[in-house]
Amino acid sequence: MEGGMMDADALDREEDSRLAPEPMDRRDFLGLSACAAAASALGFGSLGILRLPKPGVLSSPSKKFRVTLPESLLPGQAFVPQGRPVAVYRDDGGVFAISLVCTHLGCVVKPTAEGFECPCHGSRFGPGGLVKRGPAPKALPWLSVKPVAGRSVIVDEGTAVPNGTKAAA
Ligand code: FES
Repeated sequence: MEGGMMDADALDREEDSRLAPEPMDRRDFLGLSACAAAASALGFGSLGILRLPKPGVLSSPSKKFRVTLPESLLPGQAFVPQGRPVAVYRDDGGVFAISLVCTHLGCVVKPTAEGFECPCHGSRFGPGGLVKRGPAPKALPWLSVKPVAGRSVIVDEGTAVPNGTKAAA
């Protein structure tokens, strides 16, 4: 009788131990932890990308802009509108604009008394934008200019015209 009771207790304990979850070994625990960490990093990273600030300004402003030339502008003297890589001139032949973007690697060249010089790699251009010294491979482009009223013109940075093209002032 006593032996039968002990057998039943032993059977119950054995049944309990079979139904109880197996203890997780160290390798499984670390693997699971790594997966959880990777999943949460991915989730938070995605949230961060969604919350990045959006640019508040247009990335490319209009290529056309209006310029009012100063009355005192002398023939052959460059007028550079603020924030635009363009030099605008007025002479007896009319009004014209030359791009100040170097044809080598795109630095902004500076108008000088002899033409233009590039501060980046030393290219020199003549008064009409022709290359006098490299490494710039070609002349500075002339840009479209349309007179509007008085001393004002519309310059189109996006439209090149043949060098020497002037608009009637
Ligand atoms: S960018 Fe002007 S010389 Fe190189």
